[in-house]
Amino acid sequence: MGIADLIRKRRTIRRFKQKPIPLSVLLDLVDAARLAPSGANLQPLEFIVIDEPTQVQAVFAHTRWAAYLTQNRGRPAKGQEPVAFIVLLINRSIRPQGGEHDAGAAMQNIILSASELGIGSCWLGSLDRVALRDLLQITSHCEIDTAVALGYPDEQPVVEQMNDSIKYYLDADDVLHVPKRKLDDVWHHNHYTQKI
Ligand SMILES: Cc1cc2nc3c(=O)[nH]c(=O)nc-3n(C[C@H](O)[C@H](O)[C@H](O)COP(=O)(O)O)c2cc1C
Repeated sequence: MGIADLIRKRRTIRRFKQKPIPLSVLLDLVDAARLAPSGANLQPLEFIVIDEPTQVQAVFAHTRWAAYLTQNRGRPAKGQEPVAFIVLLINRSIRPQGGEHDAGAAMQNIILSASELGIGSCWLGSLDRVALRDLLQITSHCEIDTAVALGYPDEQPVVEQMNDSIKYYLDADDVLHVPKRKLDDVWHHNHYTQKI
């Protein structure tokens, strides 16, 4: 699949098949992240790959999911949890401040590379960073930026044009709908024009 189709077809996945992802594949994802653009080419990012089932479960306990879905319906149910995580760190001895743009570019490389291999992902910013630092033995010069949960998809969310709300929702068939702002609402031609 070409990059344009991958971008259009990618959706955040929060229900996963319990099929392991080979470590070599996870390392390919990190390799794609390593090659992302980096401000001043400082490359302050480091990555913890977690695929050992007990450790995956422990990391999962410190993650929060789909805040717009009530009754915790966004959190992967038992038997649909992610099978791996990559935790993205900013090494503050390399870059004392900033680096979040680098992190975004690197994470998108991971997510799109995973999509190409049929692997679903959920980028996670809502984390118990204190607990994760302790669990993963992260030293003080590294900051946890975000993490990504990974696994083969066990759901097929759909994108739709946003009307009155940006909140994703589950329909009667338990399919996740993700509203996106219209192209016409987000672009400007040659100069800014007030749209909303
Ligand atoms: C920086 C960032 C942090 C996110 N954090 C979480 C999170 O903590 N938990 C979660 O369930 N989803 C999280 N998401 C996923 C978003 O909810 C998701 O991208 C959004 O609903 C749009 O859906 P889409 O990715 O299918 O387009 C995060 C996404 C981004 C970019």
